[in-house]
Amino acid sequence: MLAFSAKTMLVIKTEKELKSHLSSFGNEKSLGLVPTMGALHRGHVALVHRAISENDTTIVSIFINPTQFNNLEDLKKYPQSLIGDIQILEKLSGKIIVFAPSVEEMYPNGVTSVPYQFDGLDKVMEGAFREGHFNGVGTVVETLLKLINPDKAYFGEKDFQQLQIIKKLVEIKDIPVDIIGCPIVREPNGLAMSSRNKRLSTTLRKEAGLIYKTLETAKKKFGTESAKSIVDWVKNQFKGHPYLKLEYIEIVDVETLMPIKRKQDNGKYRAFMAVYANNVRLIDNIALN
Ligand code: PAF
Repeated sequence: MLAFSAKTMLVIKTEKELKSHLSSFGNEKSLGLVPTMGALHRGHVALVHRAISENDTTIVSIFINPTQFNNLEDLKKYPQSLIGDIQILEKLSGKIIVFAPSVEEMYPNGVTSVPYQFDGLDKVMEGAFREGHFNGVGTVVETLLKLINPDKAYFGEKDFQQLQIIKKLVEIKDIPVDIIGCPIVREPNGLAMSSRNKRLSTTLRKEAGLIYKTLETAKKKFGTESAKSIVDWVKNQFKGHPYLKLEYIEIVDVETLMPIKRKQDNGKYRAFMAVYANNVRLIDNIALN
């Protein structure tokens, strides 16, 4: 059987089954897509709520995409919980369709990614520290968008660089879809929701609250201080920290994602950080103005 129904929810595993299901949809019905790698948390739930509220039908894809992992250990440790994920989605709405394909289904011609030109958006921050990551993301998102042909697709702002790159992807590939960025959902201590948080001990989860606390202070400082002095101040907050290791802090222009030297009156800026909590890599960002 190609598709199976969980209690109330349709879970589709193959492209063929997905296409035949989608072909029964009228053109007048709107379709929302929430692409995920599973291990769903409240951040994903917020994306799904938004998709449900804006579309007649919502598809949630659950696929751990191997080509976007530059580190095999990270891929191996990535949490997998399809049954738990389906239960979470079932509680939200029985009408969601889950698309959970295999690697062979998504990469019938071999597990490789397409090389894209994202106008330099992929060369900084995550792109600089995770070689090939955004080609992997682009490849799987392009495949999903072309397969499903949604009216709108929803992505969290925790991965703000990814969001900008996906907007660029649909522009260069001329894919007719609205890419919707949704606000970061946070744990009570400010830690941005992430599937990786599941790998943090209680102590690390508590300590990792420093990431958002630092970003909030950076935002306050942005009104009066230079980008360089804020970057130096952030670096100092993590110096010698027993659990947290800062990988990068950047203050960048939102459109180009290039680090800024001098603020312009009409510029829009954001601060981005990547931090290791032991061996768990966490990212976060904040709008500065
Ligand atoms: O943000 C993610 O979870 C992934 O990068 C995405 C967009 C689902 C592509 O695999």
